[in-house]
Amino acid sequence: MTQTSPALPAERRRTFAIISHPDAGKTTLTEKLLLFGGAIQLAGEVKAKRNRVSTRSDWMGIEKERGISVVTSVMTFEYADRVFNLLDTPGHEDFSEDTYRTLTAVDSAVMVIDAARGIEARTRKLFEVCRLRDIPIVTFINKMDRESRDPFDLLDEIEKTLALDTAPVTWPIGRGQSFAGTFDLARNLVRRLDADEDAIPVSGPDDPKCVGLLPEHEREAWLEEVMLAQEGLKRFELGPFREGHLTPVFFGSALKNFGVRDLIDSLAEIAPSPRGQEADKRLVTPDERGMTGFVFKIQANMDPNHRDRIAFMRVCSGRLERGMKAKLVRTGKPISLSAPQFFFAQDRAIADEAWAGDVVGIPNHGTLRIGDTLTEGEDLAFNGVPSFAPEIMRRIKLSDPMKAKKLREALQQMAEEGVVQLFLPQDGSPAIVGVVGALQLDVLKERLKAEYGIPIDYEQSRFTLARWIMSDKKGEVERFSDAHLSSMAKDLDGAPVFLAPSAYQLSYEQEKWPDVTFTDVKTYQ
Ligand code: G4P
Repeated sequence: MTQTSPALPAERRRTFAIISHPDAGKTTLTEKLLLFGGAIQLAGEVKAKRNRVSTRSDWMGIEKERGISVVTSVMTFEYADRVFNLLDTPGHEDFSEDTYRTLTAVDSAVMVIDAARGIEARTRKLFEVCRLRDIPIVTFINKMDRESRDPFDLLDEIEKTLALDTAPVTWPIGRGQSFAGTFDLARNLVRRLDADEDAIPVSGPDDPKCVGLLPEHEREAWLEEVMLAQEGLKRFELGPFREGHLTPVFFGSALKNFGVRDLIDSLAEIAPSPRGQEADKRLVTPDERGMTGFVFKIQANMDPNHRDRIAFMRVCSGRLERGMKAKLVRTGKPISLSAPQFFFAQDRAIADEAWAGDVVGIPNHGTLRIGDTLTEGEDLAFNGVPSFAPEIMRRIKLSDPMKAKKLREALQQMAEEGVVQLFLPQDGSPAIVGVVGALQLDVLKERLKAEYGIPIDYEQSRFTLARWIMSDKKGEVERFSDAHLSSMAKDLDGAPVFLAPSAYQLSYEQEKWPDVTFTDVKTYQ
């Protein structure tokens, strides 16, 4: 594939994530992509790290947990004159909130599907998040070297379950044991599994060069398949892809490093460069001179003795230069970007400059929060980073009452990091923590003990649901709050939250207060 070199640094950026169901091959594919970019020398490094946290008890080892999440939160590598920023979406279901936030910072996504299993639950969920922002998706159907489903069937499933048009770019030559390579439908190219060479041009699937790739008894059926695919299926079109309505599909085997080159070449060529980002006052475009960015993830640092954190910021416009002063819009105060960092497979390095689309880690001592906007002075706030209503709520039981103040501070910090959500009841009763997944409760407990010396336990809360409330009618939120004092709380930002003991109670209130909106997703302002 020939690529022209874009003039602006932002145009060279490809910031993307891989979405998949656990076990579909995300780690294996990540590894192979990094190999193409020269970011790692040996396949196996990503996996080795991942395996350290593969069990629940392992996960609780805090160093180990950070080992993976900091290092692989974002991986930057260059290939085909493009700078790829691959943002990791944590594999564990319990951290879905983090995953969703990460997806607000990408411009495209690769959807990895297991060829035997098709669309699975988590893929669908992540896809829905991408759809909210019309993120263009490139599909990689993986594990073609294993027994797999009929390709037409798989494409049909994507179309039906995701309501997404498909355009196969390559077509598998055989499956399972007889998987021999791929055939490029539009360009009539054959790439062989057993030969590490460029794709070979052929006149069509019936070209003599294709003879011998498959056992004779499979050949006839394959020829028919390919001709049907060439004639009957949609061709790739850039417009619908960029709008998020059509996905180009590649077949391959991440394990055998097959089909990955076609995938990365296509990302270089068709995946969008950084998009404009919606802020409260206007759309910010990547080519603007002034630097802007937003924080979508906070990670406590590797060293538990120092309370410093890394805020992951996506640069949205301009050029971030090491040493520059930026304005933290929430507080209006300046923040010095003295040591922004880039991340590679196993390393980080100080970034001297970063451009729109890049993700930099900014070390800080708690100044930065999820959702924060940094600018070169302009008062604007990006509003795309969501917070999700917790599905589990607990009160914290503290055995040592002398530590109440310290606990409050620690919880505040954990909430700012996005580990848990914190709700302070209006009636002054003890704080309630909310999480999307149960594992977050374990992480909170472990970290409070290890980092703050505060042992805690949890108590059931009488509430099971939390909803942010809003209203277009003046004074309505206040009226509602006054009438429900013992069920009202403030979140970390002081926004009013209604806590309900049951779904029944919630729908009762919703009916009774038609002018109040109860929402389970809040976007940071
Ligand atoms: P994940 O990050 O999406 O959870 O998946 P991961 O890459 O860890 O892959 C899950 C399993 O599927 C691994 O096997 C991996 O080797 C295998 N796999 C990934 N891609 C392919 C492929 O293209 N073909 C085949 N045949 N297998 C593939 P495992 O047995 O769980 O791990 P391991 O023992 O191989 O490390």
